[in-house]
Amino acid sequence: MAISLDLLLFCTVAVQIASTSFYGGSMTFFPGERHQDGTLEVSVYYRESSNKSCGGQLNWDCLHGDCGNLLNSEAFVTDQGNSDLFPWCQSEGHMARILVNDSPFILGSSGCCWDINATGWRLDTLVDMGTRSDTQLPNSSPITATVPKLRIPQNCFSNVSLLAYDPNGDDVRCRFASDAGVNCSFCSHPDISLDQDLCSLNAINPLALGVHVFEMVLEDFPTKDINSTYRDGSSVVKHSPKQTADPTPLSRIPLQFAVEMLSPVENCTSGEVQPRFLTPTPSHGDIQKATVGQVLVITLRAQFAHSPILDFQVSGPWNMSKTTVNQSSTIAIATIRWTPQESDTGRSVPICFTADALTSQSEMRCIQVSVNQSPMPEQSMTGEGAVSCKGNLINIVLSKASLQGVDLNWLHLNDPSCSLTANDTHIMGTVSLNTCGTVIEDSGDFIVFKNEINTFEVASAVISRRSHIKIGFSCQYPKEANAISRYMIPDFNYVFTESSFGSFGYSFDIFTDQTFETVVGPSNYPVKTKLLEKIYMGIESHSSFPNTQLFVESCRGTPDGNPQNPVFYDFLQNGCLLDETMMEHSDNPNKYYFEIEAFRFSGDQNQVFISCSVILCAQDEPNSRCSLGCLQSPYRRKRDVAMETGVHYLTQGPIVVVREDMHTEGREQLTPRIQQTLSLKRRKSGRKLRDAH
Ligand SMILES: *[C@@H]1O[C@H](CO)[C@@H](O)[C@H](O)[C@H]1NC(C)=O
Ligand SMILES: *[C@@H]1O[C@H](CO)[C@@H](O)[C@H](O)[C@H]1NC(C)=O
Ligand SMILES: *[C@@H]1O[C@H](CO)[C@@H](O)[C@H](O)[C@H]1NC(C)=O
Ligand SMILES: *[C@@H]1O[C@H](CO)[C@@H](O)[C@H](O)[C@H]1NC(C)=O
Ligand SMILES: *[C@@H]1O[C@H](CO)[C@@H](O)[C@H](O)[C@H]1NC(C)=O
Ligand SMILES: *[C@@H]1O[C@H](CO)[C@@H](O)[C@H](O)[C@H]1NC(C)=O
Ligand SMILES: *[C@@H]1O[C@H](CO)[C@@H](O)[C@H](O)[C@H]1NC(C)=O
Ligand SMILES: *[C@@H]1O[C@H](CO)[C@@H](O)[C@H](O)[C@H]1NC(C)=O
Ligand SMILES: *[C@@H]1O[C@H](CO)[C@@H](O)[C@H](O)[C@H]1NC(C)=O
Repeated sequence: MAISLDLLLFCTVAVQIASTSFYGGSMTFFPGERHQDGTLEVSVYYRESSNKSCGGQLNWDCLHGDCGNLLNSEAFVTDQGNSDLFPWCQSEGHMARILVNDSPFILGSSGCCWDINATGWRLDTLVDMGTRSDTQLPNSSPITATVPKLRIPQNCFSNVSLLAYDPNGDDVRCRFASDAGVNCSFCSHPDISLDQDLCSLNAINPLALGVHVFEMVLEDFPTKDINSTYRDGSSVVKHSPKQTADPTPLSRIPLQFAVEMLSPVENCTSGEVQPRFLTPTPSHGDIQKATVGQVLVITLRAQFAHSPILDFQVSGPWNMSKTTVNQSSTIAIATIRWTPQESDTGRSVPICFTADALTSQSEMRCIQVSVNQSPMPEQSMTGEGAVSCKGNLINIVLSKASLQGVDLNWLHLNDPSCSLTANDTHIMGTVSLNTCGTVIEDSGDFIVFKNEINTFEVASAVISRRSHIKIGFSCQYPKEANAISRYMIPDFNYVFTESSFGSFGYSFDIFTDQTFETVVGPSNYPVKTKLLEKIYMGIESHSSFPNTQLFVESCRGTPDGNPQNPVFYDFLQNGCLLDETMMEHSDNPNKYYFEIEAFRFSGDQNQVFISCSVILCAQDEPNSRCSLGCLQSPYRRKRDVAMETGVHYLTQGPIVVVREDMHTEGREQLTPRIQQTLSLKRRKSGRKLRDAH
């Protein structure tokens, strides 16, 4: 269904009296072409949600500044509900404006009323098309949207993650409208705390049954201070939140939506009592690429054991089509197809979706699609990138041709200490499932290990943000009973890639005795030991790069696998031994063996994990970290130095330190002292511990 502009305008005349089905709205904008005469086009997209059929109520007025001339404006219904049990509708409008003067302006739309009660609504957008000093281009707003109707059983509401993406790489913050000085009817919510950076609503108290309205704004801030320069020659500084407590947003866009608290359900088991998404549904926050004139297909798949999935709500662009089918009695599939038009070039399009059943709804996921003008050259479409998954290794190969203008040295993985390596034609890297910031995601029927190639922020250089790239890659494994333990086995090898060292790996093992010959096998985990008994461990490096040297810089025990746990015991730090029972043994520059007396943390925790940080160096480099040995203060790596890798963390465990009921006394004295090592004077108390011994 299409609503022509005339009809839109006509509708708004009647708004004050008739239209009460307003259910929220959002807006995003981006700069278009700059014309010969210096005028600039700006493209504004807005979405309007409605509790019934779409009303076309959004009608924008210029509230402040010079909003330029309206070039065209149209709105179309993009998706609507198929059930009378919970009707919903969403439309998207597009408006192009020509700016002679690029100074900031505010567009606003208001009307009566929210469908909830007779309260009026109002959306305001702050547009600033000044030229940014970092990109030499005007700013694009953050990207956000929601499905028309969020429906959550009362007892299953803990948080809602909203989409808050910025195509310029700015920091985006979500705020309640009133906190940003914007007029509002539903200015905040007493039972909700808002995480401004993650843009998530977190329930601090159960919400009452019925409809709750959220009137929010998203603001984008530069990551460092920049200037915004206007055609009239004037310029203002836009402060980064990192540099001032009172930063200046580059833009402010509205995000308003309603959340319906449904009757409580028995429990909130995903898939059974709440619909859940299965593969290949995109993950929340994914970025997809689309090309003008080519069909983008997105498949959503959801499971619900309790009752049929009636529909999928999709918040998307114009001309998007959606078909749904029941795959089985518990699984339904929606296929979204969208062909970007010429006018979508350069646009980042948010798409949000949920799977809806009568009594419940899946989590909402949102992705964003960035639209390229021209199709990729044929060979790069096929040869662009390949991911292979073998055992616990993820291997990625990208053709350099498909990454024109991207410098290898700017690329890193989720963990910035991991970069990539290259030959003449390809950029590649290998990581293991447990290294380089690889994250584990439960996608319903699969376990997915994901990582991402990103561009470095070069603090000193003015690089065009247009060359920012973000390439996600993942390996997924069916979630059968055994599969998980197969990939979680403790004797993982750790594989990393760095540009100057290629791919290299470490193994970290527990040995049975001081000969360091027999490794404790996976079937013997968790490894059991007693207090005061020795633990024998070894780290070995593997590299195709000849003449490397392994350096173990620090080792600590923690009660779980997280080396950042606030409870820890450092026994090797900056290359110096801190524990007097620890002994190092090495007969080879690529091996580091050590023994240490077992210890445990006080309280109920009887598990200890050991995490060590390691560095690989070129051998015989007198100034490398490996040659420096024990240092009194932390070592700062010189970035450009090619003779050593970054610091990487390896974890081994759990080691279960069994309490022997016979001799409790001696050990009860020991454990509280180990706890003392949590104080800042770790070194000192570590000594004391052994002195007292
Ligand atoms: C939305 O519309 C339905 C059907 O017209 C109605 O029953 C329901 O009360 C409305 N919801 C709200 C919050 O007004
Ligand atoms: C509308 O609902 C809001 C939030 O529940 C409430 O604060 C307000 O008083 C209501 N207004 C009317 C006119 O009922
Ligand atoms: C909800 O909040 C919890 C705890 O704050 C967090 O672990 C979880 O990832 C959040 N979920 C979403 C969908 O944001
Ligand atoms: C907010 O509303 C008040 C009263 O309706 C009005 O006087 C004021 O100008 C509005 N402020 C803004 C920023 O729109
Ligand atoms: C912003 O402009 C001022 C004055 O023209 C200049 O001194 C300053 O260096 C500029 N800052 C940036 C980040 O470009
Ligand atoms: C949740 O409810 C479902 C359906 O009633 C039931 O099958 C399941 O065992 C329950 N799960 C838990 C964890 O209680
Ligand atoms: C699945 O089938 C039910 C009827 O059994 C129907 O109401 C529902 O709309 C179907 N779901 C989808 C997603 O097509
Ligand atoms: C929708 O698609 C039709 C044909 O596929 C095209 O002619 C029309 O311009 C499109 N409309 C929009 C708003 O993209
Ligand atoms: C570069 O590496 C890739 C992937 O291993 C390989 O397919 C390609 O042949 C190599 N190219 C050259 C020039 O060695």
